[in-house]
Amino acid sequence: MTHLQNTPKPPSLHGTATPVSAKNLATRPAGSAAPVVPPYLSDTYHWAYINPRNVRFLDRDLVVSIIFWGNRRRLQKAAFDEISPGMTVLQPACVYGEFSSALARHVGAGGCLDVVDVVPIQIASCRRKLREFSHATARLADSKYPAGKQYDAVCCYFLLHELPEDYKRLVVNALLASVRPGGKVIFVDYHKPHWAHPVKPVTSLIFDNLKPFAKQLWRHEIADFADRSWPLSWKKDTYFGGLFQRVVAIQPE
Ligand SMILES: C[S@@+](CC[C@H](N)C(=O)[O-])C[C@H]1O[C@@H](n2cnc3c(N)ncnc32)[C@H](O)[C@@H]1O
Repeated sequence: MTHLQNTPKPPSLHGTATPVSAKNLATRPAGSAAPVVPPYLSDTYHWAYINPRNVRFLDRDLVVSIIFWGNRRRLQKAAFDEISPGMTVLQPACVYGEFSSALARHVGAGGCLDVVDVVPIQIASCRRKLREFSHATARLADSKYPAGKQYDAVCCYFLLHELPEDYKRLVVNALLASVRPGGKVIFVDYHKPHWAHPVKPVTSLIFDNLKPFAKQLWRHEIADFADRSWPLSWKKDTYFGGLFQRVVAIQPE
């Protein structure tokens, strides 16, 4: 396990066109209108998260297991190991398969799980999966805005690699603002694999063609996207030859 400092960021991570306030937090527009689907999602990931036929086909554990090279259970466990039953948890994007229902079961009726996503069809399928859990909800929201509530933990599972650089920074800071003092944000996502990793070439090809923002996680630490003024402690573990990482940012008490 590596412990990271909140290190200074390269200048490329600072510029943005989005209005921001303290600690680089985006300000939610007034009113209660449904969030706009961001252009990177409708332009790049329409086939994966918006097209209803593909959503029906992709939203299953087997597909997730294949995408994660057989590491689905291990990565889910890595995230859940940081979450105790009874915690209040925010999941800032839907995940295909049974991840959210497993997380609802894991936190138990003594805790609560709130899932948000910016795409209506994703929220509709998540609500179906969470039907049996009265302590779990799913609602439409863009995770670049702070949740408006402070959770014990935020579980950010394979969202960051899909976001453009300015969005990564807004989402990371919004999630950090959504945990209570002593709370934590758990990021599980891609990471730069060892140079000799057998799946590095095919992963690189997939990223270049389907996931144009993913290699930013090969070049930057997740901590680089957090505003430097957060007094955080960070820890990091990698999995499967470095292809995946779990990074935990802990707010001081
Ligand atoms: C968590 S990511 C990738 C998950 C992973 N590939 C899987 O399903 O196993 C996919 C989700 O993120 C959502 N998403 C993308 N940008 C978002 C944002 N700014 N706010 C909330 N949800 C977002 C998409 O709508 C999609 O449902």
